[in-house]
Amino acid sequence: MLHDTFVLKGNFLFTPTPDQLALHPDSYLLCKEGRTAGLFPQLPEAYRDLPLHDHGDKLILPGLVDLHVHASQYAFRGMGMDLELLDWLESNTFPEEGKFADPVYAQAAYEIFVRDLTRSATTRACVFATIHRPATLVLMRMLEEAGLPCLVGKVNMDRNSPDFLRETTQASLEETRQWLAESAAFSLVRPILTPRFIPSCSDELMAGLGQLQREFGLPAQSHLSENLSEIQWVADLCPGTSSYGQAYDQFGLFGGDCPTVMAHGVWSSPAEQKLMGERGVFLAHCPQSNENLSSGIAPVKDYLRQGLRVGLGSDVAGGAHLSLFRAMTDAIQCSKLRWRLVDETIPPLTLPEALYLATKGGGAFFGKVGSFEPGYEFDAVVLDDSTLPTPRELTLAQRLERVVYLSDGLPCAKYAAGRRLF
Ligand code: GUN
Ligand code: FE
Repeated sequence: MLHDTFVLKGNFLFTPTPDQLALHPDSYLLCKEGRTAGLFPQLPEAYRDLPLHDHGDKLILPGLVDLHVHASQYAFRGMGMDLELLDWLESNTFPEEGKFADPVYAQAAYEIFVRDLTRSATTRACVFATIHRPATLVLMRMLEEAGLPCLVGKVNMDRNSPDFLRETTQASLEETRQWLAESAAFSLVRPILTPRFIPSCSDELMAGLGQLQREFGLPAQSHLSENLSEIQWVADLCPGTSSYGQAYDQFGLFGGDCPTVMAHGVWSSPAEQKLMGERGVFLAHCPQSNENLSSGIAPVKDYLRQGLRVGLGSDVAGGAHLSLFRAMTDAIQCSKLRWRLVDETIPPLTLPEALYLATKGGGAFFGKVGSFEPGYEFDAVVLDDSTLPTPRELTLAQRLERVVYLSDGLPCAKYAAGRRLF
């Protein structure tokens, strides 16, 4: 792909570490062949002839990374939220996902999702489609054309689901292999293995997916320790495993040579946390989904302190909102309630920590993504906070906080992998 070289001007904010908010007011960023190549208080002489994208006094952040979202659930977000996970899957989620057998429905539903994702501050996402190969490819094509470098998964399910949303083990593996072959048509959008969760996938299917992982060197995504009834079910289905995580690990689908992102980890035991650390598994913290489905509050601050790899997920439609600014405030607010009500030894998340989770924390799953440090892939969103007028003089950090808490979260300009999208 051809990448431009250009200069951006504006106020740059990013988080090299969870506790450091780097502020570069009224500065110049060089984007060279798709990567950040320097931030300067004055424009160096050598770059005077390059195209200049002058964003004036606006705020410029690294593009936000959604580590867990179900594109196929976007049509029922904000509905049916008075249930817990397993009942919610049966009564809302599976019937909706069944509709994606119809490519016409899939086209209409995914068009709305991709339009809204494009307008949002999210530049990259780990996306669940459904079990349906043709519909998954429709979604991948749309994301590719929108310029959003996403990882997209055709979901695998061969047990414990209704007839209309269940594959045979053999068909699931064959369809996955064919989908992988057809995914080679895309360059920006990549496939990610997506066993829905342990209850949906037989041992034989998991073993086959483990083989495909090794054969193609694929990443994987799934769900982990979200809800107490779910965890008990997994323990019953997998006698002899010491944790939910180990139920994936026994098939080589829990980090190590398989880059893995697991959603939730609300109730991960100390042994499971240790395994996540050893295997370098990423955790997608999805606070709004965990509230809506009454799942609980993950100890994210503790995970960060342990050095586990954590990012944020919207988990639409468990979460109703695609906005990762909303996910940031949800994460902070949940962590405050957890601190007060559950464990006074774990203090709440700060705003820089929440921004880190939404950018560099989750971005690391995609490589050098989520920061304006040199060598990082250039993903950025430009935010116009003049739409939030105030008579007060504000610092850049205060302006960021207001945008996160108050704005609609929609950027006025957006760049992904070095390309300007709008
Ligand atoms: N566990 C298995 N499937 C799902 C899903 O679609 N959403 C959530 N939140 N958890 C799951
Ligand atoms: Fe999910």
